[in-house]
Amino acid sequence: MSVLSSLLNIFALIIQLPLLLFHKLGIEQYLSTFHPIFNKPDNISTSSSFSFYSNSNPSSTSVINDETDPLEKLQQKIITAIDIVDIVHAHGYKVHEHIVQTKDGYLLSIHRILPPSGDIPQSSKIVYMHHGLLTNSELFLLGENTNRCLPFLLVNLGYDVWLGNNRGNKYSRKHLILSSTDEKFWDYSLDEFAMFDIPNTIDYILQITKQQNLTYIGFSQGSAQCLAALSLNHDLNEKINLFIGLSPAMIPHGLNNPICSFLVSSAPALMYRIFGKRAILPSVVFWQKLMGPKFYQEVVDKSLVFLFNWKSGNIHPSQKKVGYPHMFSPSSVKSVVHWFQIIDSKRFQMFDEGGASGSKLVYLSGASTKTNRVASFPTQTITTPCYLIYGESDMLIDIEKTVQNLSCDVETLGLKGYEHMDTLWSTNVEEAVFNKIINKLKQIDTKTA
Ligand SMILES: *[C@@H]1O[C@H](CO)[C@@H](O)[C@H](O)[C@H]1NC(C)=O
Ligand SMILES: *[C@@H]1O[C@H](CO)[C@@H](O)[C@H](O)[C@H]1NC(C)=O
Ligand SMILES: *[C@@H]1O[C@H](CO)[C@@H](O)[C@H](O)[C@H]1NC(C)=O
Repeated sequence: MSVLSSLLNIFALIIQLPLLLFHKLGIEQYLSTFHPIFNKPDNISTSSSFSFYSNSNPSSTSVINDETDPLEKLQQKIITAIDIVDIVHAHGYKVHEHIVQTKDGYLLSIHRILPPSGDIPQSSKIVYMHHGLLTNSELFLLGENTNRCLPFLLVNLGYDVWLGNNRGNKYSRKHLILSSTDEKFWDYSLDEFAMFDIPNTIDYILQITKQQNLTYIGFSQGSAQCLAALSLNHDLNEKINLFIGLSPAMIPHGLNNPICSFLVSSAPALMYRIFGKRAILPSVVFWQKLMGPKFYQEVVDKSLVFLFNWKSGNIHPSQKKVGYPHMFSPSSVKSVVHWFQIIDSKRFQMFDEGGASGSKLVYLSGASTKTNRVASFPTQTITTPCYLIYGESDMLIDIEKTVQNLSCDVETLGLKGYEHMDTLWSTNVEEAVFNKIINKLKQIDTKTA
């Protein structure tokens, strides 16, 4: 074991070396002597020396002035927004932040979107939306204009819209006892999202609104979390009148490239050695600043092709410019390891802690052994009706297997040429996705009315 362990260490070191150098040599600090935006890695700068429009507006490197057209002004406000409050206000709407305490002590900030008047919705039609892996509640509000943000469309139609957040992301870094610098704080995977974050948040919303049920819309992991939660909590099935999955990752195909495939099939120990046991992607804002917006956009595009073979061809560059700067948010390394396990085992299963015996030998002897089989999430027991909207070109979704593993009422909508992010951001998303969702919601309203 000790030979293996040293090999792991060496491999981890090689992968980490550039990052380590950067942080250990304090290049971050060195840069800050030249440019103040490197001072606060957690602050997306609103400094005007950063020009996001040098391309479209070659004559001027300055930022907002009164002559810029209103759409460009809105987009610039979104790009430089520090948090969801800024984004919502830029669109002219209001937002209330609520804090949900999970049964295991995490404090999650969730966001209720209010109409421009600021009136608290009295509607019985509640829509709860949940983001995907490595993102946060801002995800649904990153359309390049107001009509391309589903929550605002729903608020206009009289729905009471709430956006959730997972433990550990930008908005949910608090715990009653643990500090987010503790390793223990980051000891969570999809299991905890399903056992605590989703059901506890839904209970909170139903309690505040005094309603009995709501409609859930999840993007990617946000839909997997809900399906997992529904499979583990039978009561929850009564509280969700319809589940809508956008790009519902549950049983993904493999990843696109050999390095990732190697990581996917490697023992979690290697992942932990490379990324540590706490957060993954903690320094995303820093990299963003270092690279500058244009280069960052290119890097994100290239990485998406590299990892998942998403060409992002259906997403307009101006949509990327607005969406990418806010797209990523930290999560635990363990939650990423969990997805690797799901991809590797081709089963929608709970986190594998390393075998009944806790022995690492389990990994050496192959994924399934006679003594160790981690339980799948029992998705066959779900009774909530499901509406799944997915891209036919999405590598991360195996829709046939997904449908096979649900025995509730399932309706699917496959979109030709669509990839993963397209159900949020494609150029015709309003017609192809948002209108379909709105029609579906109207159907339930007439049913319950
Ligand atoms: C972020 O940085 C900007 C400009 O550098 C500053 O005005 C703002 O107060 C900072 N915000 C926070 C939360 O530190
Ligand atoms: C949802 O709750 C409403 C009352 O708030 C009730 O009339 C309706 O039957 C419920 N729907 C489902 C599917 O349970
Ligand atoms: C789907 O369900 C079948 C049983 O109906 C089960 O054997 C299989 O493991 C499930 N697949 C996944 C990916 O969970």
